[in-house]
Amino acid sequence: MSHDEKAGFLQHIEPSLKDGSFVKMSFSKYRGGDSEFKGLMVNLISTIEGERLSFRFSYKTKDVVKNYEITKGISLVSEITGKDFLAATLFTTNEDYSLDYSKKRVPTLHTRKPAFGTALSREHNREKHRIVDPASEYFYLLGISSKEGRVHSDKYDKFRQVDKFIEIVDSLVASSELKDKSEISATDLGSGKSYITFALYDYLTNTKGMNAKVKGIEQRRELADLSNKTAIQCCFNSLSFMEGKISDGDSDSADIVTALHACDTATDDAIAFALRNNAELILLAPCCQKYVRKRMHIPEDLKPVFAHGILEERLAVILTDSLRALVLEHFGFETKVFEFISSEHTARNTMITGVRQKDTGKRNMKALNEIEMIKEKFGIEDFYLDKILDLK
Ligand SMILES: C[S@@+](CC[C@H](N)C(=O)[O-])C[C@H]1O[C@@H](n2cnc3c(N)ncnc32)[C@H](O)[C@@H]1O
Repeated sequence: MSHDEKAGFLQHIEPSLKDGSFVKMSFSKYRGGDSEFKGLMVNLISTIEGERLSFRFSYKTKDVVKNYEITKGISLVSEITGKDFLAATLFTTNEDYSLDYSKKRVPTLHTRKPAFGTALSREHNREKHRIVDPASEYFYLLGISSKEGRVHSDKYDKFRQVDKFIEIVDSLVASSELKDKSEISATDLGSGKSYITFALYDYLTNTKGMNAKVKGIEQRRELADLSNKTAIQCCFNSLSFMEGKISDGDSDSADIVTALHACDTATDDAIAFALRNNAELILLAPCCQKYVRKRMHIPEDLKPVFAHGILEERLAVILTDSLRALVLEHFGFETKVFEFISSEHTARNTMITGVRQKDTGKRNMKALNEIEMIKEKFGIEDFYLDKILDLK
């Protein structure tokens, strides 16, 4: 009888992986001997070798991720169910199956309506080649999507932004020294409501199968506290948030540094943070570039071009972001400045990315000369990042 219930549970795994209805598996009621152990989650991931079952073992202070070929993964599930874990749930877009063992280790199989996603939303994902899944638990907890995985209409722009951001991270990781790492750290500066931070953690851990440690730094305590609470709810054990200022922030390491829409000079503080912490990859979406605007002087011969306030403001934005990109180039990064999402979704849509090039130990002096030239041409006596240029 008990054997049949377990077999009845296991028999749904392979078909759900084949027909695309598999969402994830979770295991609880741990009966193994490790007092640090907290839980296990199994996701389906795509790697260059093909699809894999990704096992995320969560401990009090870290997550350990191991990826298995499908057949091997299913045998492992069979091995641990009823032995190390007395409860297991298979979430699919058709039905959820839960196997629950009594104290006497008699299993009962329950079938329920699906808690995550729908066939439609998964199909939707595939059509759009999305890396992030709107049916992820954190999107629900952060108020982006419904429990069924449908993005709320007033949150669609935010979701598009997060999706696009992760797509950019994906291509930059592939072109950087980080691509072969199994352990990685990332810091999101000015994490706010932390949509980006959660998606980044999910991508590194579950999509890439890396052991990732991700931190958010946010000056508003209530947002940092709320994000920590959500990370615990999702069992994202290596994701944490700190209340603090970007300028004061430091990290044990930060391979990836992101700062999206951190106001004015907070973006410059993020650049300084990334350089201090030897980041390999930097992604910035600047906003409200006021510092240069207050200090620049438009040359006489260009005054007719910038006679109107809005054009002068745009010039300040262009000068600030050009100087930032050149600072990164000076420190050995290959940079790109581009519109990362259509202006129909957000007006703050410029992205600066930097990928560290193999360290030759030399500074790019051409970039430094260009910084000097721009400052002189536009009478900018003091640029916020001068202090780090002087330091190095
Ligand atoms: C516009 S929100 C963007 C949030 C998130 N990065 C995103 O793009 O969804 C900017 C956040 O950065 C935080 N912030 C701004 N300046 C900061 C600073 N110097 N140190 C820490 N947090 C800062 C703000 O409190 C706010 O939550």
